[in-house]
Amino acid sequence: MPLAPSPSELTLTGRRIVLGITGSIAAYKSALLARELRRRGAEVRVVMTPGATEFITPLTLATLVDHPVHSDFTEDQDAGVWTNHVELGIWGDLILVAPATANTLAAMVHGGCDNLLQAVLLSARCPVAVAPAMDLDMYTHDATQANLKTLADRGVDVIDPGTGPLASGLVGKGRMAEPEEIADHVAARFAAELPWSGKRVVITAGPTHEPLDAVRFLGNRSSGKMGFALAEVFAKQGADVTLVAGPVALSTPDRVRRRIDVETAVEMDEAVKGLWGDMDWGIACAAVSDFRPAQTSNDKWHRGEVPSAVELTENPDILKGMGEAKQPQQKLVGFALETDSGEQSAMGKLERKNLDAIVLNTLMDDGAGFGHDTNKVRVLFQDGKSVSFELKSKYEVACDLVELWRTTITP
Ligand SMILES: Cc1cc2nc3c(=O)[nH]c(=O)nc-3n(C[C@H](O)[C@H](O)[C@H](O)COP(=O)(O)O)c2cc1C
Repeated sequence: MPLAPSPSELTLTGRRIVLGITGSIAAYKSALLARELRRRGAEVRVVMTPGATEFITPLTLATLVDHPVHSDFTEDQDAGVWTNHVELGIWGDLILVAPATANTLAAMVHGGCDNLLQAVLLSARCPVAVAPAMDLDMYTHDATQANLKTLADRGVDVIDPGTGPLASGLVGKGRMAEPEEIADHVAARFAAELPWSGKRVVITAGPTHEPLDAVRFLGNRSSGKMGFALAEVFAKQGADVTLVAGPVALSTPDRVRRRIDVETAVEMDEAVKGLWGDMDWGIACAAVSDFRPAQTSNDKWHRGEVPSAVELTENPDILKGMGEAKQPQQKLVGFALETDSGEQSAMGKLERKNLDAIVLNTLMDDGAGFGHDTNKVRVLFQDGKSVSFELKSKYEVACDLVELWRTTITP
């Protein structure tokens, strides 16, 4: 079974890629490329030129992508069954020709339609990327360079070949980029199209645990689910997400670039202070304890030695610190969990802490707040406007919130 992409890796989940393979010795690397695209979550259809089938068998590719390979205009000559090249061009989110021979590049420039891949390219409505692979002299030839320039000018994404020993025995530029590099390039291209692409977002989530003695703590019932759902949605929509998590039993959502685990409010404050200056957005979703025991014991308190009272001291106000350090281009959203309707107190918090919006949820609503998989929220803005949402799953709430902030707070 293929390995799943690591959280920091650019994924291709749900993307449809038509992989065109042409007659270069580098065609053997297309098998690794097909596997890598699949491993990152893409659906892949393969179209091979007749030349390509001399270098690697359709059976290998069909097995790797779990779908028959197309290499001919007709699928069954006698029965008159043909391959619908127009459909393939419409099906794909991207056509990736890797390796791309000098011959196919030239055909693309001149609108050649001698084989199925060329027909797919000529009728494609989706973007096209090519990864040239050829001998040094073929690559540097004026004809090839002019063809690559023409294609780039027409919007084709040219993935530069690498330099090194070539099949001809020469050393130089012309080796097809490595499969991982091509997959990275393609994934970055898709990521750049997403609405939160290029935005750095720090999200705090979960409770904090404030130690009383060596084994006990003062905490709250936050599960971290709301903050983790937000991290998942932001990351899926292209944001560069850093998640600062209190003690929670949740795994890091896909595509979240960085996770910093902390225990106490002081640790969370330190982590956030180190990050906030480099962020575009801050989402303070953690249920931070406002106070902690003034003294903690490194030993476990035993019966008979338990103090009759515990003195408390205030924790740093993380959100207030973020609001004070906030730059004009930065956006900051806080969460408020109240036991009553909470609107007045939330509005006060919004102003005092220099927030762009505050999300209010109240324990008065069934199914909202700590521990539940659902939440019911109301978002208040600086200008006094507010938007309310119905009770939904925390993931759906996260989708609503991220879209609302994008459309209302971004200038
Ligand atoms: C052993 C061998 C290796 C080849 N390698 C390449 C190559 O790396 N790049 C290239 O542009 N052509 C290469 N060719 C030439 C192409 O296979 C030839 O131009 C063919 O017509 C390409 O057809 P296609 O673009 O339809 O696949 C090679 C030919 C042979 C016999």
